[in-house]
Amino acid sequence: MGATANGTSAQPFKFLIYGRTGWIGGLLGKLCEAQNIDYVYGSGRLQNRVDLEADIASVNPTHVFNAAGVTGRPNVDWCESHKVETIRTNVVGTLTLADVCREKGLVLINYATGCIFEYDAAHPLGSGIGFKEEDTPNFIGSFYSKTKATVEDLLNNYENVCTLRVRMPISSDLSNPRNFITKITRYEKVVNIPNSMTILDELLPISIEMAKRNLTGIYNFTNPGVVSHNEILEMYREYIDPSFTYKNFTLEEQAKVIVAPRSNNELDASKLKKEFPELLSIKESLIQNVFKPNRKTPVA
Ligand SMILES: NC(=O)c1ccc[n+]([C@@H]2O[C@H](COP(=O)([O-])OP(=O)(O)OC[C@H]3O[C@@H](n4cnc5c(N)ncnc54)[C@H](OP(=O)(O)O)[C@@H]3O)[C@@H](O)[C@H]2O)c1
Repeated sequence: MGATANGTSAQPFKFLIYGRTGWIGGLLGKLCEAQNIDYVYGSGRLQNRVDLEADIASVNPTHVFNAAGVTGRPNVDWCESHKVETIRTNVVGTLTLADVCREKGLVLINYATGCIFEYDAAHPLGSGIGFKEEDTPNFIGSFYSKTKATVEDLLNNYENVCTLRVRMPISSDLSNPRNFITKITRYEKVVNIPNSMTILDELLPISIEMAKRNLTGIYNFTNPGVVSHNEILEMYREYIDPSFTYKNFTLEEQAKVIVAPRSNNELDASKLKKEFPELLSIKESLIQNVFKPNRKTPVA
């Protein structure tokens, strides 16, 4: 329930969420239930304007959340061979939803991606200089990233949209194959590169709070700082399975087993941290929100 400055209760929140069957969309629904926030999943396909208008007319939401998007299965390489399907959802669909929301005067919280940047001379690996919200994407090496960079640029013209640049999402559910930790523990070989990442257990509640505050514009939606693959795998060994082993390979070797290049980068999370000073660094959040709650090894 929202509250006005004089303490009287304002209109209660009602969220319309797209992405019911997806990872982030599913988690959002659970969070709304835990917080007693009224919510309904959208039934329309994003590219069908009339469906979206009908959803909004029947739900009458205070805010709209877009956790729908094409990410590819088993991974983003799928987008390389399904370009039109990828455009239909990630470009046409996302823009249509933003446009309908604008017309109805609704804030749209849009789960986007930070995989539109890669380390460069002005933001070198290990420098601690991250890309800022206003920086122009410099990674369109995969078709997935290309659609996301294009749409981010266009969405920037919509004053009702809050774009959240999510990266390498991690949750405390280590059995979920989408979880970055689960992915890298199952790969035969992994690269070892520091990256900005998003701890969903900590950041999805923050995105709900962002809606309540009606925040708009672009946000690097990652925990501050970076963590490397090996650092995560060492934490996994310490907290979950001391017998776990892993092998590294180089970016050149990785390129032989994937179709499209992947982005590696640091995003500067200071804008989000300023709004939410309690935000933990990526390594603190990994331990507090993921590894400690899942601990299987004895406490020393
Ligand atoms: N997971 C990641 O690694 C990652 C990283 C950074 C950013 N993100 C972004 O965060 C968003 C959510 O990711 P996620 O991992 O939760 O995705 P996900 O598990 O693949 O779920 C995608 C959801 O989008 C829905 N969807 C796809 N096309 C649609 C369309 N045209 N109209 C309506 N719904 C549609 C799917 O529903 P159907 O099953 O009915 O198609 C599904 O519910 C995506 O935009 C993704 O790009 C994800």
